[in-house]
Amino acid sequence: MKAALLIESLTGNTWKAGELIAANLQQENWSITGISSAKQPDHASIQDADMVIVGTWVHGLFVVAQSPWGIDNLRALPAMSGKQAVAFCTYALNPGKSLDVMTRELSNRGADVVGGLALQRGHLAEHAEEFAIRLIDSLATPK
Ligand SMILES: Cc1cc2nc3c(=O)[nH]c(=O)nc-3n(C[C@H](O)[C@H](O)[C@H](O)COP(=O)(O)O)c2cc1C
Repeated sequence: MKAALLIESLTGNTWKAGELIAANLQQENWSITGISSAKQPDHASIQDADMVIVGTWVHGLFVVAQSPWGIDNLRALPAMSGKQAVAFCTYALNPGKSLDVMTRELSNRGADVVGGLALQRGHLAEHAEEFAIRLIDSLATPK
């Protein structure tokens, strides 16, 4: 599989998570067409990919009013019909419904969304590995 990663990150956690996810997938022989900012996406890397992995961070009042940061940037992504997509977010305490919101936006861009995972910022390495395993498993399991 060929994957492009699009990341929104303020303090670096989500970017680091994206790099860890990419490394885990590469170990499984995936190729990474690019890692770029969701604000200024590398369109060529999206075009070359079968799977678009989108990550952002959770913004809110920690236990209430959580939402994925930069949702307007997801709305501005190119149409992704014919591609699969998966979302992830990093958070501190509680991600709320951030993944649902991301999933909806990616579906609105025409992608076939295969799932998503919230990664706790204190456990990025383990959760990134879990993300990669689940993603690979979800593709292996017939729908
Ligand atoms: C202004 C602000 C609001 C935040 N609100 C929440 C929140 O409501 N719930 C939560 O679990 N984490 C919240 N966080 C924590 C971030 O989601 C977490 O640190 C994330 O990993 C940051 O990603 P980044 O380093 O890529 O910017 C907030 C962080 C900031 C700076």
